[in-house]
Amino acid sequence: MTAKKTIAVVGATGTQGGGLVRAILTDPEGGFAVRALTRDINSDKAKKLAHLGAEVVAANVDDLESLKSAFQGAYGAYCVTFFWEHFSPEKELAEATSMAQAAKHAAVQHVIWSTLEDTRKWVPLSDNRMPTLLGKYKVPHFDGKGEADQVFTDLGLPVTFLLTSFYWDNFIYFGMGPKKGPDGKLALTLPLSDKKLPGIAAEDIGRCAYGIFKRGHELIGKTVGIAGEHLTGAQMAAAFTQSLGQEVRYNAVPAEAYRGFGFPGAEDLGNMFQFKCDFNEYFCGARRLEFARALNPALLTFATWLAQNRSRIPLSD
Ligand SMILES: NC(=O)c1ccc[n+]([C@@H]2O[C@H](COP(=O)([O-])OP(=O)(O)OC[C@H]3O[C@@H](n4cnc5c(N)ncnc54)[C@H](OP(=O)(O)O)[C@@H]3O)[C@@H](O)[C@H]2O)c1
Repeated sequence: MTAKKTIAVVGATGTQGGGLVRAILTDPEGGFAVRALTRDINSDKAKKLAHLGAEVVAANVDDLESLKSAFQGAYGAYCVTFFWEHFSPEKELAEATSMAQAAKHAAVQHVIWSTLEDTRKWVPLSDNRMPTLLGKYKVPHFDGKGEADQVFTDLGLPVTFLLTSFYWDNFIYFGMGPKKGPDGKLALTLPLSDKKLPGIAAEDIGRCAYGIFKRGHELIGKTVGIAGEHLTGAQMAAAFTQSLGQEVRYNAVPAEAYRGFGFPGAEDLGNMFQFKCDFNEYFCGARRLEFARALNPALLTFATWLAQNRSRIPLSD
């Protein structure tokens, strides 16, 4: 019997990491074992992962030594940061640096870094099509991740850069789903113009990451992107209409208006949608559906995701 290759998973009690943990544990013959990293090994979510068969260890991405211990002896590491917990790209860069250093220290053989584009390569700070935020970013929650790519490269790590996509789960948890307007009718409000948004069932990110680890050396040193479907606002609204059994209209708003919506992160997300629209061909092209499906044959379409989740989408306001 050959020993299983252990994957250390950051954010294991969360969305991306949790999907990877479940993907590994539901494939007991796959040759991989999972080490779930959490700040609290006694939380209900951590206990549930242990119950499913994960090795659960304590680690904090703000504590390099804890990461070094948690990565020790692992074959692979899944590295992700948590922008929306602190809204700081500098903190993301520091956390990514710690994870990269820990992976180097533990001589991990395959790292997946869950990244996004540094949009400043497309829209330099001098480009006034969108405002500069926090002094030196265009899309803060993208730019810090993209900037961190270099840290993994500079340390000479065997890394796959994974470009993720918009979670359709944002329609449940992030307040982005259809809302009733003054006319009482549901509308999906997004600054997407007539462009396509690469989206994915969040659970599929981990399943695709598992597919990357299973490919061995093939994707080391590469940047790969994943999505479940590329859909326009009108197409998503039509799918909502079909699935919810009541009309959902697509309400296209300008990015400028979206930036002014006032919720935490509105400017960041307004710039993000503008970037996705202005560079739509690049952005969709970097997230190929056939590739994601090859990594993860169970990849959900938006309609299938909706069929599984429609009752969880809050529609009250
Ligand atoms: N929403 C989207 O559409 C989307 C799309 C692409 C990329 N992203 C990116 O995805 C990232 C978040 O990933 P996610 O959605 O998987 O996160 P998540 O579901 O919010 O998971 C967060 C998990 O990470 C753990 N965590 C938080 N702070 C930690 C720390 N300091 N040290 C160690 N663990 C910590 C927590 O676990 P414990 O409490 O157990 O420690 C928590 O369960 C963000 O950076 C975001 O920009 C989001």
